[in-house]
Amino acid sequence: MKLAVLADIHGNQPALDAVTAELERIQPDFVVVNGDLINPIPFSGAVLDQVRATDWAVVRGNHEFYLLDFGTTRAAPGSADSERWGCLHWLVDNISAAQARYLAALPDERTLYFPGTQPIRVAHGVPGRNRVGFYQQMPAEKIVTEIKEIGERTIISAHTHVQVDRHLSFLDTVDPFADPHDESSRYFDGYAAHRQDGLVHWHVINPGSVGLPLNGDPRACFAVLESVDEHEEPGGWRCTHHRVAYDRAPALEAFRSSGLLDMGGVVAQLFYWELVTAEAEIIHYYHWCRDNGVDPDGNMRLAFGHYKAATGRDEYVIARDPTAKATRP
Ligand SMILES: [Fe+2]
Ligand SMILES: [Fe+2]
Repeated sequence: MKLAVLADIHGNQPALDAVTAELERIQPDFVVVNGDLINPIPFSGAVLDQVRATDWAVVRGNHEFYLLDFGTTRAAPGSADSERWGCLHWLVDNISAAQARYLAALPDERTLYFPGTQPIRVAHGVPGRNRVGFYQQMPAEKIVTEIKEIGERTIISAHTHVQVDRHLSFLDTVDPFADPHDESSRYFDGYAAHRQDGLVHWHVINPGSVGLPLNGDPRACFAVLESVDEHEEPGGWRCTHHRVAYDRAPALEAFRSSGLLDMGGVVAQLFYWELVTAEAEIIHYYHWCRDNGVDPDGNMRLAFGHYKAATGRDEYVIARDPTAKATRP
């Protein structure tokens, strides 16, 4: 059984097309899409139409909720601010009622039970919280704390836009020889096969992002899981990460031609930068503001101006933008 796992497409149709072509070659038995199909790259409607036409299993991510909650009491605080939420405003104007209805009825998590294999739990963050995220270098204790209640041993998460393939274990009994004040001795990286008594194990996978990878490599990411014998891989699924090169110019150009860059405020600019650099530009901006005593959301345009002047980040991005030469004199 071969399962392809896609996540965080974020409206990037050219990236999805490149991944779909690769899936044609790999021929998986099934495909699951783990949330954030839409926003901000301005092909969200086309991405939804493409995915709706398949038999892929899809779950919602936080970006689906930004759209579904917009204009309600559930909307994110400050979501009327066009500097911060302009991409969403653009999307609200450019998505059809039928496309939004498709999102309305999607589940927030899935458990996949393929015949003869061990079950896989799929959620954009963790079940019940779509903004929890994992990284390859995160301490085991931090991850296990978030997944402790999950009964399935293989967990597919997304949201952080980086590839993760981790085995983690938790000793669910108290070791009489361990320091009772040191909880950390109960959390393990990997699968401590020699300690079977009371040992709980999980395999945590993040396929990375199709449309907006944030690992410094702009290629579109996805993963393929193959069911294997338990002795070969604890939990019964082996993960292979994939990266596919594609031409980003159409997506970058679309930021300009669709009006998104004009309408989408500072956040549209930061998302554009992420598409160029494959680095966490939004997080960089917020960290710089925090470290320099600047309110990142108050007057975002002004704060962003200070950020650019202080860091020269715009020059860094322009130097890496494959469309920069065509648009600059
Ligand atoms: Fe995402
Ligand atoms: Fe997300």
